[in-house]
Amino acid sequence: MSRRILVTGASGMLGSHVLSVLSAKNDVLGWSHGADRAPLHRIDATHAGQVEQFFRTHTPEVCVHCIASPDVLACERDPHMAAQLNSQTTKQVARACTEYGAKLVYISSEYVFDGTASDGYTEDSQPRPLQIYGETKLRGEEHAAQVPHHLTVRLPVLYGGPVPGRKPTWLEAMLRSLEQGLPVELDDHFERQPTWSYDVATVLARAIDEEVEGILHVATQEGLTKYAWGVKVAEAAGLPSSLLRPVPAPPETSGPRKPARPWLHTHRLQQLGISPPPGVSERAAAYVRSLGGAWRT
Ligand SMILES: NC(=O)c1ccc[n+]([C@@H]2O[C@H](COP(=O)([O-])OP(=O)(O)OC[C@H]3O[C@@H](n4cnc5c(N)ncnc54)[C@H](OP(=O)(O)O)[C@@H]3O)[C@@H](O)[C@H]2O)c1
Repeated sequence: MSRRILVTGASGMLGSHVLSVLSAKNDVLGWSHGADRAPLHRIDATHAGQVEQFFRTHTPEVCVHCIASPDVLACERDPHMAAQLNSQTTKQVARACTEYGAKLVYISSEYVFDGTASDGYTEDSQPRPLQIYGETKLRGEEHAAQVPHHLTVRLPVLYGGPVPGRKPTWLEAMLRSLEQGLPVELDDHFERQPTWSYDVATVLARAIDEEVEGILHVATQEGLTKYAWGVKVAEAAGLPSSLLRPVPAPPETSGPRKPARPWLHTHRLQQLGISPPPGVSERAAAYVRSLGGAWRT
């Protein structure tokens, strides 16, 4: 069934994939903040009046809310900015969804958990964020839960295509260094669930189609350290992974606390008959192809 869907943060890494995947079957509108390119509508979502006016004019049936600052360090340094982007924009959007009868799909994060549970986390597990980013994403979850029809989707660490106007992602920077014959040190201690944002968008499209509500974890079930992840992507690009250096123990850091292993289980997704996204082993080649050599520029 075709729907009128609004994607907020549609100029971002995840939102751009969500916009393009949902556009195949739906009438999709997208928001950006700084990016000025069609078909995106520029808006400041911290501004209640701008949000309300857009909903009044366009009356979306579903809103996929991808706006946030996913930069954990930047959030810690600027808690006001983190609260504005991660929590306040969600409050404005949730309020508008309730007023205009739209369903809200809120994008959340593994960082709502403290990562101490050795057997991982289900949708029912108790959140306990360790830093400003996780706290403000959890506030966002609370705002989203006020909307009569809502879906909160928790995601692990993502990788995606280059975003115009942004500095290269760590994977693009790594590929560039390897091409120049330079070594790169990568953490080989923390296990993560690196998931391609294109695959997240595909699962979201299905969850929206099937009117899933509540909380849903969407994450590959392949666990990799950053080093193992980098090796797979380097090999897929035909570059020398021997230049990658595993760093076995986490360096002492004065930055924000990070969850050691916030493993997201996907039993609910599977009960719904939806496969979790594939891991890097399966997707590295397609991801590298999707970059079209962007790390060289
Ligand atoms: N990246 C990850 O590894 C990861 C992991 C788990 C969960 N998540 C979650 O996934 C979602 C998307 O993350 P992402 O990595 O795709 O983020 P991103 O690339 O940084 O995109 C953020 C988006 O928010 C927009 N935005 C910023 N300030 C705004 C404002 N005041 N008004 C309107 N729009 C504004 C940006 O617009 P402009 O670009 O036009 O400025 C951009 O489209 C977030 O909810 C994040 O918490 C991300």
